[in-house]
Amino acid sequence: PLVSTGELVTAAAAAGHGVAAFNVITLEHAEAIAAGAERAGVPAILQISENAVAFHGGRLGPVAAAATAVARAASVPLSLHLDHVESADLLRAAPVAGFSSVMFDASKLPYAENLKATAEAVRWGHDHGVWVEAELGAVGGKDGGAPPDAHAPGVRTDPAEAVVFVAETGVDALAVAIGSSHAMTARTATLDHALIADLRAAVPVPLVLHGSSGVPDDEIRRAIAAGMVKINVGTALNSAYTAAVRDHLTSRPAVVDPRKYLAPAREAMTGTVAGFLRVVGA
Ligand code: G3H
Ligand code: ZN
Repeated sequence: PLVSTGELVTAAAAAGHGVAAFNVITLEHAEAIAAGAERAGVPAILQISENAVAFHGGRLGPVAAAATAVARAASVPLSLHLDHVESADLLRAAPVAGFSSVMFDASKLPYAENLKATAEAVRWGHDHGVWVEAELGAVGGKDGGAPPDAHAPGVRTDPAEAVVFVAETGVDALAVAIGSSHAMTARTATLDHALIADLRAAVPVPLVLHGSSGVPDDEIRRAIAAGMVKINVGTALNSAYTAAVRDHLTSRPAVVDPRKYLAPAREAMTGTVAGFLRVVGA
């Protein structure tokens, strides 16, 4: 069934485990996330990024409708989240399109402007029943950006700033920069566990880990034990998808029916989703 992100995050935080959010690009991604969640017997979040909406011609409706239908048909609770939203128009489209939550991303702006823009987004969101996540610090690696300096302490989230940011904006969850970075294809990130503990102690809302594709299982477990709740995974699904397609097509030059290679791609993503959920949701 379709549930709200707020209830999944609140329940995970109360139970002391995490909840994973997986990025949807195609219908097969959504189907794989639902199938993987059912296989693991664990709830999950389907998230659609502003970049994915741009890929679909800037139209949120069709991809949102597909993800909603997949979530409704699933036997485990699934929610719909709009990810890395920079556009105020897209934020305003969220509730109509069936999203219970949005990550409003003004993290590229200087601190004071990020705070101001986020506070406005949260005010609008709360007036319209939308749970709002925002980011403070720079996780990096998005939009094909240079492989991050995510391991440089300078770009990490400062706990004292986080306290003020959360209080002044009223955000429901905070994405923090603690050593992960987006778009990693190897699971080699090491997290700053002392900083996670400091942020957890300082900030009253659930913390969000972005770029979790590059974070090893044990690092994810430790991060959740220290207080991270929402665990965002995107690239790992795409790595599984593309490897399966490449593997299938390399030895079969005559194939033309996309179902022949999308079936193994979807199955590969399903396995990846179930694997993350066994780590995050347990
Ligand atoms: O918001 C989405 C996530 O942070 C995904 O990052 O593609 O590196 O797993 P990833
Ligand atoms: Zn992210």
